[in-house]
Amino acid sequence: MIGRLNHVAIAVRDLVSATALYRDTLGAKVSEPLAQPAHGVTVVFIELPNTKIELLEPLGANSPIAKFLERSPDGGMHHICYEVDDILAARDKLKAEGARVLGDGEPKTGAHGKPVLFLHPKDFNGALIELEQV
Ligand code: CO
Repeated sequence: MIGRLNHVAIAVRDLVSATALYRDTLGAKVSEPLAQPAHGVTVVFIELPNTKIELLEPLGANSPIAKFLERSPDGGMHHICYEVDDILAARDKLKAEGARVLGDGEPKTGAHGKPVLFLHPKDFNGALIELEQV
C-alpha cells in the first residue's frame, strides 16, 4: 500500500541555523522558508537526490510541534511521510486494521498542496506517520 518515502520531517527551534547547517555543513540544496499558518509551522524543504527533508519551526501560539520541542529541546525527528495512491482507501484499510488516524480522520491539505493524514505513533512503533496522496 505505501509507496515512496516522500520526506522525513525534523522539528527545530531555530530554522535559520538549522537551514545553514544543511546548506553549508552538509552541502544540501535548501529552499526559502515558507510560513504555513494553517499548520502552525514554518518549513524549509531540503532536496536530496532520492527524497526530501523538511525542517519545521513552530509558528504561532498553538503550533503542533511546540510540545515536541518542549520534550526534545535539541529538536529531533518528528515524522516520516509515505506516499499512497489513494488516501481514502489507505485510511479505510488502516482503520479496519485498528490503526488510529489523528484529528477528525479526514485528509487535510499538506505542505505540498496534496491530501495528507497522520497516524497515531503508538500504533506504528513510536513513529508519527504522515500519508500523502501523490
Ligand atoms: Co510532513
